[in-house]
Formats: sequence, structure tokens, C-alpha cells
Amino acid sequence: MNLTGSRVLVTGGAGFVGSHLADRLAADNDVLVVDDCSNGDAGWVPDGAEFVEGDCTDPDLLAEVLTADVDAVFHFAASKAVDTDRPRAQFEDNTAMTYNVLERMAEVGVDELAFTSSSTVYGEAPRPTPEDYAPLEPISPYAAGKVAEESLLSTYAHSHGLRAHVFRFANIVGPRLRGAVIPDFIEKLREDPTELTILGDGRQEKSYMHIEACLDAMCHVVAHADRDLNVYNLGTRTTTSVDRIADIVSEEMGVDPEYEHTGGDRGWTGDVPRMRLSVEKLAGLGWEPTDSSDDAVRQATRELLAGL
Ligand SMILES: NC(=O)c1ccc[n+]([C@@H]2O[C@H](COP(=O)([O-])OP(=O)(O)OC[C@H]3O[C@@H](n4cnc5c(N)ncnc54)[C@H](O)[C@@H]3O)[C@@H](O)[C@H]2O)c1
Repeated sequence: MNLTGSRVLVTGGAGFVGSHLADRLAADNDVLVVDDCSNGDAGWVPDGAEFVEGDCTDPDLLAEVLTADVDAVFHFAASKAVDTDRPRAQFEDNTAMTYNVLERMAEVGVDELAFTSSSTVYGEAPRPTPEDYAPLEPISPYAAGKVAEESLLSTYAHSHGLRAHVFRFANIVGPRLRGAVIPDFIEKLREDPTELTILGDGRQEKSYMHIEACLDAMCHVVAHADRDLNVYNLGTRTTTSVDRIADIVSEEMGVDPEYEHTGGDRGWTGDVPRMRLSVEKLAGLGWEPTDSSDDAVRQATRELLAGL
């Protein structure tokens, strides 16, 4: 898909990933952002983009913003709560919303979609995990919802003329990141630089990717992958443990706290303690991650400390 000069709808475009994407696309496209601001910030929507505040679970709102003049939809809106006690809310907030987006696209004949899935679809799979790993065994309602949403996209791609790009993200980090381990450590260490409580045993080890690299990779895939359904892992080739993140954040803040671990092999129920995605398919399409996971964590820490 050539995005230059297109009308692009970005759902969740006031959130972390969506607002950075909207920034980038607004330079040479006509961008419409829709977001209910449940976890986003209207101030992050770029000046050049149109903004509608609204809830994409509402079909009337979708009818208003998703019209036949839209060339492509970047569907990034989602509730990221990994709350195992609220699977129905997860289903209604995310899976039903994605179904509504697909139905509306089919109704008005919009046939290009990019969708943010997650490494969590693989559950506790062997690493590095390639896109064709099976069976997918998610361990949280959030991840189960992403599997269900990918399946719906597959159906519309194969039977209703949709071209879909599915991005299975590692942990994406950078300016505007909230509700994740790096901003959490920064906040705790600002309150008390002498002690840091770390969820789990600190040995959880995951792959982190900087938002700018994530956007480069996404734009590359959208421009070059031309199957009906294009599923790509986006990540770095290395991992960073939670203790290592604590070390990096402490170094960057110039503090030397005692670590206190809450114990157990994972941070919370439904957390996948070890994750590294194979990026061979992405490399085969001509995009290679250059930064390590540690580099991404350090850069994001510096940016967040600078208030970006
Ligand atoms: N950041 C990551 O590391 C990561 C990893 C894997 C997958 N993802 C996926 O990428 C996407 C973007 O994530 P993010 O990190 O930017 O999260 P985010 O919470 O910053 O962005 C999501 C945005 O969607 C909005 N939103 C939620 N429900 C909505 C609704 N019903 N209607 C309209 N807007 C709604 C929120 O207000 C928020 O601005 C999500 O689909 C998420 O599941 C992110």
C-alpha cells in the first residue's frame, strides 16, 4: 500500500503508539484520529490531524468516522488491561470493537487495515517465536482477544476482499509510554530513590523495541507486504530482564536503590515471563532491527526522564 496522499483513520490515535503513528502519517496524508481518551491524551494528536473524541465500540460513532472516502484504517484502539477478573469487559472492549470496525469497513468498501496484535498471542511458546508457531495458547483474556481479533481479520481478508496487516508487537517503548515497567520504575524511584519493589523474581526477560523503530518497521511492512493477510512480528533480536531494566533506570537517574522482589516467576497472573520474537520474516522483507533491547530501554528511559 502506498500511503502518500491517502485519507487514513487511526483509532486509538491519541494513545502511545497511535499518536506517534499519526504524527508520522500527518506529514503527507490526511489523518483522522478517533479516540475515547480512556488512556490517551488529546494533546498528543498532531496539529495536522482531525480529531474526533468517541468510543469505537459504538457502531454509530464508527458510521460517522469510517466513511467510504477513507483509504486505510490503522486500528490501534484497545483496552490493554490484563485483568483476568474482567474477561467479559475485555471481550466487549476489544474483540467486539474490532468486529464492528471490520463490519463497517466491509459495509462502506474500505479494504486496507493495519492492526496491532501482541506477542502475548503465543503464550509461553519456545523462543525466538516465529509467526507460524502453533498452537497459539494465550494465557490472558487480553491475549485471547487478540487471537480472536486476528482470526476475524483473517476471515475478512480471505473472504471479503480486505488486505490486512497484523503486527505482533514485542514491548514497545519510548516517549509518552504509560502504565509499563519503565515509567513505573521512574515514578517509584522519584518517590524513594533508596528502594525499588520489583514484581516477580526480576528474571522475567522480554524483548523491547523503540517506538521509532516500530514505526519504521510497520511502514516498511505496509509498503511491501502484499498478501491478503500479512502477519509480522515486530521486535528486537535480544531481551532485557526486569532487573536489568531496574539497573538501567537507576543508572540514568543516578540512584543506587536496594531491590525488593515480590517473588514468583511472573509479575501478575496472565503475564508471560519470557518473550522473544523471531524477526526473520521481517528481515526477509528487507527490514532489520539495528538496536538491541537494552538500547531501546535506555533510550526510552532517557526520553521519559526528559519529560517527552
Ligand atoms: N505498547 C506496547 O508495547 C504494545 C504491545 C502489544 C500490543 N500493543 C497494542 O498496540 C495498540 C496501541 O497500544 P498503546 O501502547 O499505544 O496503548 P494506549 O493505551 O496508549 O493506546 C490505545 C488507545 O486506544 C484508546 N481507546 C481504548 N478503547 C477505546 C475505544 N473503545 N474507543 C476509542 N478509543 C479507545 C485509548 O484511549 C488509548 O488512547 C493496542 O491495540 C495494544 O493492544 C501495544
